[in-house]
Amino acid sequence: MSFAGRVAVISGGGRGLGRTYALELARRGASVVINDPGSNVQGAGGAAAADEVVAEIESLGGQGAASRVRVVDQASAAEVVDTAIDRFGSCDVVINSAGVLRDRTFAKMSEEEYDTVMQGHATGPFFLTQAAFRHMKQRNYGRIVFTSSAAGLFGNFGQSNYALAKSGVVGLTKVLALEGARHDIQVNAIAPVAATRMAAEGLAAGLPEAMDAQLVAPLVVYLASEESRHTMKTFSAGGGHFAEVFVVESRGWTSQGAVSPEDVAANMHHVMGRDDTLEFGSAFEEMGHVCREAGVRSPYGDA
Ligand SMILES: NC(=O)c1ccc[n+]([C@@H]2O[C@H](COP(=O)([O-])OP(=O)(O)OC[C@H]3O[C@@H](n4cnc5c(N)ncnc54)[C@H](O)[C@@H]3O)[C@@H](O)[C@H]2O)c1
Repeated sequence: MSFAGRVAVISGGGRGLGRTYALELARRGASVVINDPGSNVQGAGGAAAADEVVAEIESLGGQGAASRVRVVDQASAAEVVDTAIDRFGSCDVVINSAGVLRDRTFAKMSEEEYDTVMQGHATGPFFLTQAAFRHMKQRNYGRIVFTSSAAGLFGNFGQSNYALAKSGVVGLTKVLALEGARHDIQVNAIAPVAATRMAAEGLAAGLPEAMDAQLVAPLVVYLASEESRHTMKTFSAGGGHFAEVFVVESRGWTSQGAVSPEDVAANMHHVMGRDDTLEFGSAFEEMGHVCREAGVRSPYGDA
């Protein structure tokens, strides 16, 4: 897979997972903007992580540009995409890999801990992707990867702020996949497992070194490539294991006429039946299905 002539923006590209994506894309010919303020895991301070990755890329004969902006709002996000367009003339790929942690049990969580994590994992990726998406629409091409997390998909004690943001990017992935489809903009999310600095300092401490960040990169590079044929998906990736994580709905149970809470309670085994599951490609598909099951005409067509 070649990325010759392609321009990629990688937030959090100075360290951990983002760095491995940056090096692999550059090795395959992409010009890469490494966006990373080089902060610590809590999001404080700064270091030259982005410049170091650019130096590595250049020593391999590739092209890179450092952007040390902390992406937390629309203006900071626009600055990063402008760097890509000013330096390399385009923005074909966005990989959102920035991240900070402020773990705390829900009852003790402060507003500052909430805000920092939402800015880093939800607001930042939202506006970075929006700035790039506008450009991609004009050029009728784009590849976007968001970074979700097992904590957001499956839950993790002590990560209410992080899980809110990380499950949110899965919904965002699906909306942008629908909005981008006409323009060959593919949008996917990954939930990685890798022995990075963040894993070591967070609740995932103790991951063996064998869970190398480089073993997540092949999936992300494929999803960022022209060859990718997938959009609107969420994948688990770690240590060379790759799988799709998807939402299904049970066949469910439909009441006949009046229904009481007691009727619902008595039928929960049907409501939650796992034998026959359904997958939907959009909200309207699911809502239309609910209407039809209820014996009501769907206003959303037969999709
Ligand atoms: N490592 C894992 O097992 C794991 C598991 C689930 C999810 N994730 C997610 O993967 C992504 C990458 O994490 P990692 O493990 O490589 O961590 P990391 O700490 O090694 O790298 C994250 C990088 O993001 C940068 N960053 C922080 N805030 C930023 C901001 N506002 N704008 C731009 N850059 C910013 C940091 O400076 C750092 O270099 C994160 O979104 C993380 O939540 C990682």
